[in-house]
Formats: sequence, C-alpha cells, structure tokens
Amino acid sequence: AIKIVTIGGGSSYTPELIEGFIKRFEELPIKEIWLVDIEEGKEKLEIVGAMAQRMWDATPYEVKIHTTLNRQEALIDADFVTTQFRVGLLEARIKDERIPSVHGMLGQETNGAGGILKAFRTIPVIKHIIEDMKIYCPDAWLINFTNPSGIITEAVIKSFGWQKCIGLCNVPEISMMKEPEILGKKRAELTFRFAGLNHFHWHKIFDDEGTELTGKMISNINTKNNGTPANIYSAKFSLEMLKSMNLIPCGYHRYYYNAKEMLKHALEEFAEGGTRAEQMFEVESTLFALYKNPDLCTKPDQLEKRGGAYYSNAACDCISAIYNDKKLHMVVSTQNKGAIPCLDPKSIVEVSSIISASGAEPIAWGEMRSAERGWLQLMKAMEECTIQSAITGDYGMALEAFALNPLIESGEEAKAVLDELLVAHEKYLPQF
Ligand code: NAD
Ligand code: G6P
Ligand code: MN
Ligand code: MN
Repeated sequence: AIKIVTIGGGSSYTPELIEGFIKRFEELPIKEIWLVDIEEGKEKLEIVGAMAQRMWDATPYEVKIHTTLNRQEALIDADFVTTQFRVGLLEARIKDERIPSVHGMLGQETNGAGGILKAFRTIPVIKHIIEDMKIYCPDAWLINFTNPSGIITEAVIKSFGWQKCIGLCNVPEISMMKEPEILGKKRAELTFRFAGLNHFHWHKIFDDEGTELTGKMISNINTKNNGTPANIYSAKFSLEMLKSMNLIPCGYHRYYYNAKEMLKHALEEFAEGGTRAEQMFEVESTLFALYKNPDLCTKPDQLEKRGGAYYSNAACDCISAIYNDKKLHMVVSTQNKGAIPCLDPKSIVEVSSIISASGAEPIAWGEMRSAERGWLQLMKAMEECTIQSAITGDYGMALEAFALNPLIESGEEAKAVLDELLVAHEKYLPQF
C-alpha cells in the first residue's frame, strides 16, 4: 500500500493532485495521503483536506486523507513525498514581483530577482525536509514542484545529497497536450524531445515516420492555444529567429527573447490589474469558497486559471511510472549525465527522460548550437551562484547571481534591489 506525503498540502492545487490519483487508482493503489502544512496555512489545509477526503469518498476507493502541521510524523515510512509549498505564501510573491518592478526590472516568480529570492527563501526549508527524510523515510522518492523547480531540485540532489529526487513542471506537459492539435496529429503519433533547464528548455517534434515537425510548429507558435501556461503573456516570438534556431522555445523564453515587451506588459499590468500574485489572491479566494462547499467533491474548472494547471498529470504519471517500472517518456529535472554535453554531467537539467523504477534516465540530446550553449552556460552559472548564496548567505555571491541574470541590471541598481528584497523577506532568510 502506497503512502504519499504532500508538503504544502494547503495549496489550492491539491484537488488537482487528488483527481490525478483517483484517475490512476487501479495502477497506483494508494492507501493514505498526508497533507502537511504550517501554522500560517492551517486554515487552507483544513479546507483542502476536507475537500480531498470528499473527493475520495465519492469513489469506490478507500483512501484516508490526513492533515497535519507535524512534518516528521507525516514522513514516517512515506513512499513518495511531493513538495508544493510556497515559503511566505502569496504575500512574499507580491514582494518578488513589486520590488524589482519599482526599479524598472521584471518581477516574476521564477525569473529575474524574484526567482532568485524565492530560491533564497526555499532552500533553507528544503534542506530541513531532506534532513527529516533521511531519518523518517530514507527510501522515499521526492517529487519536487516547489519553484524555482530546477534550482530546488539541483540543491536537493547536489548540495543535500538526496539522489531519489525528480523535479517537475507543467510546461512541457502542456506543450505535449496542446501541440498535437495544432499539428493535426494525435499525441501518440508524435515523438517529443526536450532539453535545457527548467523554464528554459527547447524542444523538437517528430512524427511516426521520423519526419521533423519542429518547423511546422514554429510557424504556428504565435497562434492561440499554443501551450503557453495561463500566467505568461503571449508576446509574439520572432519567427525568423526561431526558424534559424529550428527549436521550439518554452513559454518562459519570452522573458529573454522578448525582454522589453514582456517588461512593458508586466509594468502596465501591475499598474492596472495588479501583479500576478495580487490577481491570484482573487482566484484563490474563489477556489477556497468553492472548496468549503460540503457538496462539492470534484475539482472545479476555475483551477484552470492557475498557471500550474495540469501539473498533476506530470506528478501522478511520474509516480506511477516509478511504481510500475513503466519506462515512460517524461520531461523532468534530473541529473544531466552527458545528455547535454556542454553542461556538467552532475548538473540538473530539464530533459526528455525515461522514467522507471530506478528513476529518470535522461535521453541524449547531443551538441547544442552555439546560441543555446551560451544561454545554458550563463543560466546554469546563475543557478549555481544562487544555490551557493542561498546556502551560505554570501552577499557577494548573491550579487554575482544578480549580475549573471539577464533580467537584472547590474551595478548600484542591482544592489538596491537585492537590499530591498533581503529586508522585505528577512523573516524567511535565516542564512543572510
Ligand atoms: P501557496 O501560496 O498556496 O502555498 C502552498 C502551501 O504551502 C500553503 O498552504 C502554505 O502555507 C504552505 N507552506 C509554506 N511554507 C511551508 C513550509 N515550510 N512547510 C509546509 N508548507 C508550507 O502556493 P501555490 O500557488 O499552491 O504554489 C505552491 C508551490 O508550487 C509554489 O512554490 C509554486 O511556485 C509551485 N508551483 C510549481 C509549478 C511547477 O510547474 N513546478 C506549478 C505551479 C506551482
Ligand atoms: C506555470 C509554471 C509554474 C509557475 C506557475 C504560476 O505554468 O510552470 O512553475 O510558477 O505556472 O502560476 P500562477 O497561476 O501561480 O501564476
Ligand atoms: Mn513550472
Ligand atoms: Mn544581470
């Protein structure tokens, strides 16, 4: 019988995860799910926990939901631990978005200074989670969703020594869901190959005869329903540039390839409708009002307004592929092992992989072109400085991460943004 532990269980996304487990119950016979949260999230946890239990009670399956603020108790003998917590909740995210924007820089939850600060807040917490797992569930798999997902996964595996960790994101999943329709094909007829970093990967598509459809997808990339998650503004990619690359970028590449348009749009939106986190407060309150309804026992459609919609397909497929030794193709954050030759074999990359009982085996991508090699080495260096600084609290190293990050201007302005963010998040930054 399988025991699942979800840290950050009070998340409004949890009913999607439960729905994913319900759909797969026959292949993934779960016995108990422990939703773990903290004092600040206690109310959310209780509402979501009750909703999750109602969802199971409406099925023929007997699965017990436990809610707790005691992480150690929950972790005892866990088989799979999933992480979906947000240190400081949406209030902290607002600061990550607002403070850089006051200095004319992009404020975003995983990109620019906001993403770096989210890593600074999260890494001390994930370190403690790993310490607990070493004691209470030394054989468990850690399936990480907590953002910045690639950076957190790298800290878990490389810095804290937990090898059985797979990092996930819904972005590749949405691409593989939406693109077949644009190409007039079924998903099963297509082969997708991804490589890069979390929120910074490219992919190629082939049909069942091996003919490459990448160019066809690029021609259609600026159309609606192209697989961009709900949280990203669809600035138009330059088709000339993408055709030259012959790679399909991920939605997040707009922050780099269309930096000025994205910044302009964000600043306008922050002034008019509020930042993304400010808008998500509204969505969250609608969702929690629904979850409180004792008659509701299925996931509401409103959850699709969240950028992370469909994340449970990735989470549940990954867990089932490990449990059932499926050898399934999935795009995950895992150790490079040479799949991308221009990066350290030990670095965490987001790549097409085969998921089996022994975890993720990355599929070799081959040499990167000069442009992508440059981007990847820059972004990986930025990630490494972020992790080092998050662990040691080294201020100079934090400035190095800022300097490397293409969305952060360097010099006095970078220092001002860093200083303001460090003060704003002081409560969650014991290392600084
Ligand atoms: P949220 O603000 O609802 O937070 C989720 C829960 O985490 C809250 O109930 C909160 O109290 C709890 N929490 C905070 N600190 C905790 C701690 N130390 N231990 C246990 N629980 C803690 O956030 P959300 O919008 O549901 O997002 C959750 C996380 O998942 C975020 O990090 C977000 O960036 C990430 N996310 C990732 C993807 C992806 O593609 N990888 C997609 C969507 C969301
Ligand atoms: C995206 C990403 C997540 C991201 C989230 C934001 O699709 O893959 O990593 O953080 O959605 O969604 P939100 O609705 O919170 O803005
Ligand atoms: Mn993501
Ligand atoms: Mn910079």
